[in-house]
Amino acid sequence: MAANLHRLAVSAMAKAHAPYSKFPVGAALLTADGRTYSGCNIENVSYPEGWCAETTAIGHMVMDGGGEIAEIAVVARRQVAVTPCGGCRQRLKEFGRPDTKVHLCDMNGIVETVTLGDLLPKAFEMGERT
Ligand code: THU
Repeated sequence: MAANLHRLAVSAMAKAHAPYSKFPVGAALLTADGRTYSGCNIENVSYPEGWCAETTAIGHMVMDGGGEIAEIAVVARRQVAVTPCGGCRQRLKEFGRPDTKVHLCDMNGIVETVTLGDLLPKAFEMGERT
């Protein structure tokens, strides 16, 4: 399954709209109940309005009924083992678990697998409110 996620992430990267950074990224996630969703980064001439590949994939999952993220693969053809940005770590945490596997890839396959807990320790949680 992890190899399939890599393939899906590479296919998604081919759809990236990244004319400004010229840094196409693809992501593909597997839900705990076995569905897969993928996404690419989508940039904008107003630079801060662009968003990441992981965010696109999460949006597809949510629009298809939501779920829990069991695994995600991320690939960028210009960087070996690209890692999710800080904002995407928090977004992944919303739908993932500390043991959610994050596969860091290159074009050939998975280079390293870490967990979301590794990437976002002491993640923000909204505690008791007064
Ligand atoms: N990018 C992603 O799509 N995912 C990440 O986790 C890191 C960064 C995109 C955002 C932007 O379009 C480009 O990579 C350069 O930062």
